[in-house]
Amino acid sequence: MPSIVRVVDLVKNYYMGTQTVYVLKDLNLSFDEGDFVALMGPSGSGKSTLLNVLGCLDRLTSGRYFLGDVDVSEMDDDQLSEVRSTYLGFIFQSYNLLPQYTVVENIELPLLYQGVKLGDETKSRCIALAEMVGLGDRLDHRPLQLSGGQQQRVAIARSLVNDPHLILGDEPTGNLDSRTSLEIMQMLRELNRAGKTIIMVTHETDIAAWARRAVRLRDGRVESDTRNDARTVVEMR
Ligand SMILES: Nc1ncnc2c1ncn2[C@@H]1O[C@H](COP(=O)(O)OP(=O)(O)OP(=O)(O)O)[C@@H](O)[C@H]1O
Ligand SMILES: [Mg+2]
Repeated sequence: MPSIVRVVDLVKNYYMGTQTVYVLKDLNLSFDEGDFVALMGPSGSGKSTLLNVLGCLDRLTSGRYFLGDVDVSEMDDDQLSEVRSTYLGFIFQSYNLLPQYTVVENIELPLLYQGVKLGDETKSRCIALAEMVGLGDRLDHRPLQLSGGQQQRVAIARSLVNDPHLILGDEPTGNLDSRTSLEIMQMLRELNRAGKTIIMVTHETDIAAWARRAVRLRDGRVESDTRNDARTVVEMR
């Protein structure tokens, strides 16, 4: 399998006045196309920082980041935003939906950012995605009229609208009860089985068990990197 993401000697520091916060320390990782990866580790170990760098939301301090064959470490802000809107899909713990917009309009948003002209074709694509995540009867609802699990399903549909190569999730089930978390993980697994590469932060081992590979960070370094064997990967129920 070709690697879809590869970081080489990745260092990420934050600078606060005269103080330097050393967060990611010489990480070397590569993720295969089609994989489903759980990023784990204690609070403060650098999971979100890594995800933000992989998502081109934040810049690395030194090292290289290859997305497919493309070196994104040297890109300027405009190029990074182009990469984000073309190749990446995001799912956040807090859903990050816009409250004034309907389900369909929220799903459309990445297309708007991408400069795609919205019309009947894009609308029917968004409706199809809403139906796929089980919200066909909630198309005109606004986020506050939906449950947390439903809001996260809108976010999943939104993450798919640009047909991304890679889906990044930062604790996508972090705000959900365990039953709703299961539904979301089932949905992510189906997407992965359909070929999407997923990298997802979680600190819960039962959520990580849905992934095929678990990378554990500690203090900005890789502490362990294991493949879930077929028996421990949670079975579809
Ligand atoms: N913008 C920032 N400026 C300075 N330090 C930061 C910034 N963002 C994160 N950090 C520091 O980087 C370290 C890693 O933070 P990060 O958010 O990546 O952790 P995490 O593993 O996602 O933790 P959690 O499980 O609590 O979400 C922390 O020590 C944090 O204080
Ligand atoms: Mg975090």
